[in-house]
Amino acid sequence: MRKKTVRDIEVQNKRVLMRVDFNVPLEEGRVTDDTRIRAALPTIQYLLERGAALILMSHLGRPKGQVDEGLRMAPVGARLSELLEGPVRVLRDCLGPEVEEAVEAMQPGEVILLENTRFYEGEKKNDPDMARQLAALGEIYVNDAFGAAHRAHASTEGVTQYLPAVAGLLMERELETLGRVLEEPAHPFVVILGGAKISDKIGVIRNLLDPADALLIGGGMANTFLQAQGHNVAESLVEEEAVVEAQALLVEAGQRALRLLLPVDVVVADDFSAEAALKTVGVDEVPAGWRILDIGPHTAEEFGRALQDARTIFWNGPMGVFEFAPFAKGTRAVAQAVADSDAFSVVGGGDSVAAIQQMGLAERIDHISTGGGASLEFLEGSPLPGVEALDERQD
Ligand code: 3PG
Repeated sequence: MRKKTVRDIEVQNKRVLMRVDFNVPLEEGRVTDDTRIRAALPTIQYLLERGAALILMSHLGRPKGQVDEGLRMAPVGARLSELLEGPVRVLRDCLGPEVEEAVEAMQPGEVILLENTRFYEGEKKNDPDMARQLAALGEIYVNDAFGAAHRAHASTEGVTQYLPAVAGLLMERELETLGRVLEEPAHPFVVILGGAKISDKIGVIRNLLDPADALLIGGGMANTFLQAQGHNVAESLVEEEAVVEAQALLVEAGQRALRLLLPVDVVVADDFSAEAALKTVGVDEVPAGWRILDIGPHTAEEFGRALQDARTIFWNGPMGVFEFAPFAKGTRAVAQAVADSDAFSVVGGGDSVAAIQQMGLAERIDHISTGGGASLEFLEGSPLPGVEALDERQD
């Protein structure tokens, strides 16, 4: 990797300010999925073992620049402490005299977790003043927050202006793994994309048209493609403004050796609800007033067959409305097929990862990315501001 990492620096007796992505789901004051906390443990342990005092910071949710009691970091700190089997002091602010005092008094091996950085407007605005105040807390900056690396915020980008800035071990692993998928995938390389919106994924599709051998499209975004092909999708979610773009992508895919697979059958519902009446129909038979909420069994089978011989797989986005149990079958079938494949498999994005976790398949996936939006932006070839800002290696 051309960026410096924690392996390139000396941290003994230093205060290390480390950005993590602890944006984790909470329910009733408890962390319900600690994957992102666990993913940061190797870097945390690496630095503590080498005598650093560690000041961790993260955003949590989207509190809009003000304190939101439901988005405090305390439950995250409690879970981190359990995982580390050691104390984590959680502060109720990320800036100000009390924070400065607490940080000044730190000893090597101690861990402080700052309050949610998005309680300040300056975070998302990448305010230089906020970045300078954060930077003043540490002597070295480590960014291990791959999931937030596509954001140019004070704690991910601004802070690098004032401190030596290196990548953590998770950041390094994410960049190397996704880099391998993008630059040198073993073929056949099969990409599965889903989720509601095609507009989020157009850049990825375009950038993968050449390296990919097959593109399997499900989820709400498939409806826009189906409409672009002239199918009547009735009340299904369609991004009207993206239909022309979808048509262009279908033409471009056709000009290449790429196989672009869309649903051939779908599960439709008479309402957007888990209790709606449902039936499976061909893509030409969506009844008036009904909407597509999942791929059908023939599509799942066809996708499964395309995945069987794959040697590299990247999957982002559910095949249907995964949060409603009756419409989760397509996503679950794809999760199973990805896990069953011998390919080098990478999965990113909340719902796809949730499907893998719920089905107990995580062990059978080569890399579960901690970045949803970040992994998509990486694969669309966009520079990630949080990575670009890190110091370059000299050799
Ligand atoms: C994520 O959950 O994808 C990251 O933590 C980024 O969160 P954001 O989309 O609110 O910036």
